Amino acid sequence: MTTPAKTRIIETDLDAIADATGRIAVVIGKDGTLNAGARRVNKLAKGALARMVEGGALEGMKSGEVKTLAWPAGLKAEAVDVLFLEPRATALEARRAGAALGKLLGEGGMTVLAASQTRAVDLMQGIALRAYSFTARKTGAKKALGDVTIMVSKADSAQTQADDARAVAEGVFFTRDLVSEPANHLTTTEFASRIKDMEKLGLKVTVLEEDKLEALGMGCLLSVGLGSASPTKMAIMEWMGGKDGDAPLALVGKGVVFDTGGISLKPAAGMEDMTMDMGGAGVVAGVMRTLAQRKARANVVGLVGLVENMPSERATRPGDVVTSMKGDTVEIINTDAEGRLVLADVMWYAQETYKPRAMIDLATLTGAIIIGLGHENAGVFSNDDTLSAAFLKAAGTEGEGAWRMPMGQAYDDQLKSQIADMKNVGGRPAGSITAAQFLKRFVQDGMPWIHLDIAGVASVKSDTDYAPKGATGWGVMALNRLVADMLEQD
Ligand code: BES
Ligand code: MN
Ligand code: ZN
Repeated sequence: MTTPAKTRIIETDLDAIADATGRIAVVIGKDGTLNAGARRVNKLAKGALARMVEGGALEGMKSGEVKTLAWPAGLKAEAVDVLFLEPRATALEARRAGAALGKLLGEGGMTVLAASQTRAVDLMQGIALRAYSFTARKTGAKKALGDVTIMVSKADSAQTQADDARAVAEGVFFTRDLVSEPANHLTTTEFASRIKDMEKLGLKVTVLEEDKLEALGMGCLLSVGLGSASPTKMAIMEWMGGKDGDAPLALVGKGVVFDTGGISLKPAAGMEDMTMDMGGAGVVAGVMRTLAQRKARANVVGLVGLVENMPSERATRPGDVVTSMKGDTVEIINTDAEGRLVLADVMWYAQETYKPRAMIDLATLTGAIIIGLGHENAGVFSNDDTLSAAFLKAAGTEGEGAWRMPMGQAYDDQLKSQIADMKNVGGRPAGSITAAQFLKRFVQDGMPWIHLDIAGVASVKSDTDYAPKGATGWGVMALNRLVADMLEQD
């Protein structure tokens, strides 16, 4: 997997500055005061920084903006990056500013002179998150990123936080790699084996194969994979770092490794993007990785349905009726509405097996959520105001966009079928909401539940705050934060 750049936070070492290779970043606020490290840079570079400030270079600069002095005289560094950031910036400002530096990080590494910056860990986190590229499918020499050293006035308390931040970055990168992989590489089997690999981090991993899924009665999940040569699987990751006997939080993910639409075939234009249709499962796997890496004091179980939606003579037809593990029958009107079928059975299994305290599912479920919310916010659907508020708060803290959507009986009515207990689609109006209503039919009474429709945020066509264009890893940070806030407070 793509590993985050090595980062460390140390106390300012002025004498190391002259010989620092790679890039040197200097953090300056609007009063233009040069911190001790910056003064050393300035002295070595014969007053270049002071001239820059006095010449008005900082005027009009926004928080997180960078101005670069290339090949500075008097230093070994290849560039000095002046980062505009107030010493008392918020965590998110510091993280965004870090991301601006992360974008510049190269093979030579970076030394950041952050002095009294109170958010050094967030700054570091921003650098790590943004310094990502997916190179697994390129040939040729791959350039490893150099190390990042952040120099601050007091480094003592930063180390545990820095370790946790690294665990988060690793989870995010794990998700991004999965989402970026093409479907001929990330088959259901390969996905399951990458999950299985996480056993070495202390997770308990179980992979259920088709015969077992059949015995469990998972007719919805299995119907999606009938047309594919790749076997349908369900992978389960358990992290029981909390108290014995405490009911776990269940995270459920849609892992459609490729979505052609099936017999209700999608148009050719843009179909290649459907390699990301396992994004929900990717986030679940990434969060579980983070929780294991930072040894979270919480019980969390992640369950993902891994399947490929292909047309073939064995594929499910429109008009077919399938039976869910719950026992309800579903008339398949459109084989392209497959994600809800995957989730229905995995959610039911999660509740029957683990009796979780709450359940959150993630899925690249509908194109309609992109029409509604664009690429800025994931759709949040919930039957529980407290849980949903806690999630929205966690997402806000992490700077991951999320917006609550309505639900209601009238939407559910759109799913009525003539011949089965329900249809798998509710028509064009409110397509994301009727999809959520379909899922709600598989949520047991009294189970606090959130459905996150991440179709618009899992992978995007332009750079975001923390990621280059492509897979974002959206949700790993928010869910990790929710686990910390909700389950690790005593
Ligand atoms: N995987 C798609 C949703 C999707 C669309 C994800 C765009 C990411 C980007 C999902 O399986 C799907 O095809 N949904 C259909 C549902 C419709 C048939 C009711 C859709 O949104 O068109
Ligand atoms: Mn589909
Ligand atoms: Zn899909």
